[in-house]
Amino acid sequence: MTERTPLIAGNWKMNLDHLQSIALIQKLAWTLIEKSHDFKDVEVCVIPPFTALRSAQTLIDAEKFELSIGAQDISKHKAGAYTGEISGQMLSKLAVKYVVVGHSERRQYHGESDELVRDKVAACFASGLIPIICVGETQEQLESHGPSAIPVRQTLEALKGHESLKEFVVAYEPVWAIGTGQIASPEQADQVAAEVRSAILGEHGELAEQVRILYGGSVKAGNVASFMQGPNIDGVLVGGASLDSDEFAGISRYKKHIVL
Ligand code: PGA
Repeated sequence: MTERTPLIAGNWKMNLDHLQSIALIQKLAWTLIEKSHDFKDVEVCVIPPFTALRSAQTLIDAEKFELSIGAQDISKHKAGAYTGEISGQMLSKLAVKYVVVGHSERRQYHGESDELVRDKVAACFASGLIPIICVGETQEQLESHGPSAIPVRQTLEALKGHESLKEFVVAYEPVWAIGTGQIASPEQADQVAAEVRSAILGEHGELAEQVRILYGGSVKAGNVASFMQGPNIDGVLVGGASLDSDEFAGISRYKKHIVL
């Protein structure tokens, strides 16, 4: 018997210097410990900016906090003359477990194509990192294609052409719901997650059952339960609300296990 352990991931985006990051991790970890959070039951991941990864690693290691660490991006290249880029090898040396790949802000502001997202997924696999592949439709795409077509296409594109697929996570984040306070209806989010899962099943077989699919977009402690109730949502990717330790701890407390 296997199960999908819920993943609660906080993407801090371009917020907090390394000292502020240490303070937030400390506060978050202690809040969860005080509430007897079972970290094996619900995995909690912090995704600070690159400049705070080393401090996060040192603190988490020294205090034996059971928090996972994620990075917000990865280079598609292994090493070399790529000024400003960060390689998978560098990230894995910092105990990074997850990497956000294809976030809509990178697709929008940095022109990241499906092909580049695929290369970044490959870079994660090559360095033993787990990509959190972000997919989602804009408001216009929602109106012209409905909610599922774009997330399904982006997921399949990211998974195409790899020699073999390793562990990955998909985050369904409607672009119109990110940072706006608007949320997808929980039924719609679950339906999109179901269609993404069934597309993965169709192309890549049974591993689809193991894949964790997260919802993201204006998640708060007050609405997390409604998303997690759906059978296809295995966690959440949180932006703004992950910068507040009490709020993020509140989100992390929501427990659900899918036993396969
Ligand atoms: P938000 O961001 O929670 O602030 O809407 C979500 C995300 O970008 O992952």
